[in-house]
Amino acid sequence: MIFSRGKPPTEGDTSRRVAAPWKRGENAPAVGSEQSLPRFAVAATDDIGDAAAGLPDLSPARARLALADALSASQPVTSRGRFAGRHDTMAALIAAIEQQRAHVVLYGERGIGKTSLIHVFSETAREARYLVLYGSCGVEARFDDMFRTFAEQIPLLYHAGVSPTADEGEHNRSFAGLLGDGPVDPRELADVFSQIVGTRVIIVLDEYDRVADAAFRRDVAELIKNLSDRAARVQLVLTGVASNLDELIGFTPSIRRNIVGLAVGPMADAELREILDRAEQATGLAFAPGARSLIIKMAAGSPYLARLLGNRAAGRALDDRRQAVGDADVIGGTEAVLAEWNSGLPRRVQSLLQRAEVRNAWPVLIAAARASGTPDGWFSVHDVALEASGFEPATVGKTLDGFIGEIDLFDREEGIGGRDSRYRFRTQGVAQLLGLSAALARAGR
Ligand SMILES: Nc1ncnc2c1ncn2[C@@H]1O[C@H](COP(=O)(O)OP(=O)(O)OP(=O)(O)O)[C@@H](O)[C@H]1O
Ligand SMILES: [Mg+2]
Repeated sequence: MIFSRGKPPTEGDTSRRVAAPWKRGENAPAVGSEQSLPRFAVAATDDIGDAAAGLPDLSPARARLALADALSASQPVTSRGRFAGRHDTMAALIAAIEQQRAHVVLYGERGIGKTSLIHVFSETAREARYLVLYGSCGVEARFDDMFRTFAEQIPLLYHAGVSPTADEGEHNRSFAGLLGDGPVDPRELADVFSQIVGTRVIIVLDEYDRVADAAFRRDVAELIKNLSDRAARVQLVLTGVASNLDELIGFTPSIRRNIVGLAVGPMADAELREILDRAEQATGLAFAPGARSLIIKMAAGSPYLARLLGNRAAGRALDDRRQAVGDADVIGGTEAVLAEWNSGLPRRVQSLLQRAEVRNAWPVLIAAARASGTPDGWFSVHDVALEASGFEPATVGKTLDGFIGEIDLFDREEGIGGRDSRYRFRTQGVAQLLGLSAALARAGR
């Protein structure tokens, strides 16, 4: 059994906790009538009244909405009010833009808070009158489409050749009108952008790691080079999943001088505590000291996990109409998360994970889960050995190879030209599940 703390979370364990408001209400509808189907607790207008103003209002529906708002783990933070910590990274980012006039690459693990940081940074930059343009890259992202869209958002009034007293017609025009009909070329674009006066433009390319098109990446590097050479008032901020700068932008010596690379690392415990503090203020709930440290320990620097586990634990307290969130809520909430993640896996993989061979290899698998936090999920035997103290690379290699045939947890790609073979978890979600169940086991000690 992969859940190493106590009994595995059963369906009964989670369903028992599912809110059934009418059980406590006065007008319980007749069982079987359409009235008994679950309903939304609060209207979509998100009106949380006093709780939003910092005055907790513990009506269950409102507390639940405030909780969803304060500790949602599925969305980036978009406002400063919900954003915890990250002072140093924010200061470094501002300095890179304002003092060094550099282009910036923000890199870090999946879910570590890059997009949230960029949203809050954008808010700050807009207050300083920067024109911030945001684009999220997809696998299909094309340079031409993306940069035409950006140019459309830059009013022509910022063009050196247009008078501020220009007529009405000029007010509605944008820099896109200055681009030719053919595909946008980075040099042409830098020429056009170098005509910007009266503001500074920051172009954010979020999720840059997802860009599959090599030409897009080449064009972006070329654009950075040309913008820098012309001292244009346009700066690019690229963000993406990577463990270092090269991984995200490739080997591009020509633009190294013009780029500042900033790592977004794990959050400190005090910063994670701040996330929980803010949730307490918004909801009126209180995390007991033990519950807090359990969440922080299991989150291990991840704001995503701190929010997810905090949300689940607090939800259980709300279900019981309690204001205090205790250790048992955290453990129960985490087990429920693990059960959900587990049931999201293909049946066959679920049963593979129960096999004795797999359970015996637990420490190596946990280390592999840690090593798999690369943008493409591939890792080598040495990456795993670094994570698994006390295991020789040869033992690790043998263990991983044991899960390629009949028990096919991994894909293996043979190393060519003296390179190491690399491995990857075959099924998405397995590494995440292993990581959290190991954290739960550790936290319980
Ligand atoms: N500074 C912060 N304060 C509070 N919550 C945060 C902070 N940073 C991130 N989070 C939370 O962590 C989760 C992941 O954040 P975010 O989406 O910004 O990460 P990311 O690095 O962009 O992820 P991905 O690699 O998937 O793009 C979200 O639920 C977000 O609300
Ligand atoms: Mg992101």
